[in-house]
Amino acid sequence: MTSDPISLDFKDESILILTRKIAEGGMSIVYEACKLGVEGFEKRVAVKMLLRQWSENDRFMNLFRAEAKLVSDLVHENIVQIYQLGRAPNGAYYIIMEYVHGLSLNDFILYHQQRCQSIPLPLTVHIVSRIARGLAYAHTFKNRQGTPLGIVHRDVCPRNILIATEGIAKLTDFGIAKAVDLSIIKDDWLIGKDLYMSPEQAACQPVNFRADLYSLGAVLFEMIAGVTHRPLDADPERDNFAELPVPWEALPAEVDPALVSLLKRFLDPDPARRFDSAREAAQALEYYIYKDGYGPTIQTVEDYLRHHFPALYFPESSLTSPPLTLDARTAATVIHAG
Ligand SMILES: Nc1ncnc2c1ncn2[C@@H]1O[C@H](COP(=O)(O)OP(=O)(O)OP(=O)(O)O)[C@@H](O)[C@H]1O
Ligand SMILES: [Mg+2]
Repeated sequence: MTSDPISLDFKDESILILTRKIAEGGMSIVYEACKLGVEGFEKRVAVKMLLRQWSENDRFMNLFRAEAKLVSDLVHENIVQIYQLGRAPNGAYYIIMEYVHGLSLNDFILYHQQRCQSIPLPLTVHIVSRIARGLAYAHTFKNRQGTPLGIVHRDVCPRNILIATEGIAKLTDFGIAKAVDLSIIKDDWLIGKDLYMSPEQAACQPVNFRADLYSLGAVLFEMIAGVTHRPLDADPERDNFAELPVPWEALPAEVDPALVSLLKRFLDPDPARRFDSAREAAQALEYYIYKDGYGPTIQTVEDYLRHHFPALYFPESSLTSPPLTLDARTAATVIHAG
């Protein structure tokens, strides 16, 4: 660095209006929010507010803060960007992140399952290849000193993949899983995630980027087969995940053997036999869809969403609940603004 950094205290930019509760889970509440700047400047963001019991769990918070710092500089089209880690007046930690207008891959898959429809194969491979690109970027990310950070997502699953109305697939919740895994004993709300977890992670062994490749393969399998690659009630405390057979017979008969062999590389119980990198996996998927010339793009995904989820493209209706203002300047209370 050639000159000393200048520190400015932009206190008047820390007002957040929580405009809408998007979802509430066992760990956090996700809000759509508006970050205010000066002279009417507004930026739409998402806020993930950790529930009090997590914010008060020191072990969890130490890991959570460390992970949030690790992933804060990740900037990639296929990763939901984190803007800020903050603490609300009531003591709850929150993350401000990029707002993604669209739907989760989980809802996208459910939509098809409920209608007994299959997801068009090229679209599936395109979406998964984009997430592989995001992973390739994160896995090889280096800090400013050039040291690889060894970032592993650890919770790649359809609920953590969002598809924006522009057709862009984005992976979210980077780093959170590590804090969860290492701080708590299995609890109810973790059930379901085991479905996508690599065998080595389920066995509480050390994991590296190959665990994410396995989980991404599990997502790819589900999108193609319409069923998960493990029984819904699979339990790592009862079942040896490395030995649970993948129901290959659930794949439609017309699926190209070349794609099946790619899937087998993702889902190999032996991490060493999976792809050597997420980049290699992404290339293999891209080659598969683009080798014959023109293939699906984000425009293809958008056209598909417009057709099947038209409501996502309606002008957004007025708020149903009064917004909340979070004023970090005074660290006082959460005030109703509307
Ligand atoms: N950045 C975002 N922009 C818009 N919506 C989001 C964003 N992040 C999450 N959501 C919405 O909130 C929902 C819940 O996300 P959240 O990550 O809290 O729950 P989850 O992934 O189902 O479980 P977990 O608590 O284990 O992460 C998502 O399915 C999505 O609809
Ligand atoms: Mg999530």
